[in-house]
Amino acid sequence: MTASYPNLRLRRTRATGWSRALHRENLLTPADLIWPLFVTQGEGVEEPISTLPGVSRWSTDGIAARAREAVDLGIPCIALFPNTPADKRSDDGAEALNPDNLMCRAIKAIRDACGNDIGILTDVALDPYTAHGQDGLVDDAGYVTNDDTVAILVDQALNQAEAGADIIAPSDMMDGRVHAIRMALEMNGHSNVQIMSYAAKYASAFYGPFRDAVGSRGLLKGDKKTYQMDPANSDEALREVGLDIAEGADSIMVKPGLAYLDIVRRVKERFDVPVFAYQVSGEYAMIEAAAAAGAGDRDALVLETLLAFKRAGCSGVLTYHAAHAAKLLNG
Ligand code: PBG
Repeated sequence: MTASYPNLRLRRTRATGWSRALHRENLLTPADLIWPLFVTQGEGVEEPISTLPGVSRWSTDGIAARAREAVDLGIPCIALFPNTPADKRSDDGAEALNPDNLMCRAIKAIRDACGNDIGILTDVALDPYTAHGQDGLVDDAGYVTNDDTVAILVDQALNQAEAGADIIAPSDMMDGRVHAIRMALEMNGHSNVQIMSYAAKYASAFYGPFRDAVGSRGLLKGDKKTYQMDPANSDEALREVGLDIAEGADSIMVKPGLAYLDIVRRVKERFDVPVFAYQVSGEYAMIEAAAAAGAGDRDALVLETLLAFKRAGCSGVLTYHAAHAAKLLNG
């Protein structure tokens, strides 16, 4: 017999703090967080990003210091994005293959400072390196080509792995790149380097501040709709995820985050693979703007939104709020 009121009062278990703690279904800890960092040229440089209030680009020494901070806070992984100097951007994004580029120098600086106490995740896509801001090569008709781009992404991934990256995260949405990168890693002595595939990445309006941070917003012509997914689609996300798992992805990323928690849940229910979500730059900016406008309590908004990712089924969240959230969680 199913219980009903008054035998069943769902408020009973909510009446006290200890009881709410006892019945809590999901938990957010610093170990759930991946902290994205933007790398810039120079020494002792910190450049605030106006559309991402509270987030800065750091030169490699500052990146190493942030990584140390992450270890101390219990954050297990750092994600790196370079702000490539303008004179090193080109139509083919060749700087992505330079073993001495900002990304590789940052990886080495973190490794020197933290050893293997922290995971280093590196983004594979050409947009921080191209003069046109697209994630791949563009043909005469303005189309981002697939197979030629994949060949370069493979070399970009190998360059990052050689520098010491632990997790390769292709965020480009080209077809077939996970398989190509997995094969190249296997054949070049990097069989323990993981692939976290941005399998379901949408052509979203929430990426604006990120494009400021890596300096691609002003360069980008057109949009990314021929490779990133249509926000209207959900079944297609499952096809993307299934394909990337078959191609050798160790874990899956859904991006953006909050507006796509239904995708996280569907992926979690369908596949037995760890799922992560990227709470992207526009989401961060939205929370900061709401708090600055007095529309909500910043700390509470941060922790509630991050917990929502866990509830939806995420193993972890990539978020610009990582350090702040970890401090709150550590008390
Ligand atoms: C590069 C990339 C983007 C983001 C992460 N990797 C931008 C894009 O696809 O245009 C956006 C992340 C964010 O907004 O925080 N492909």
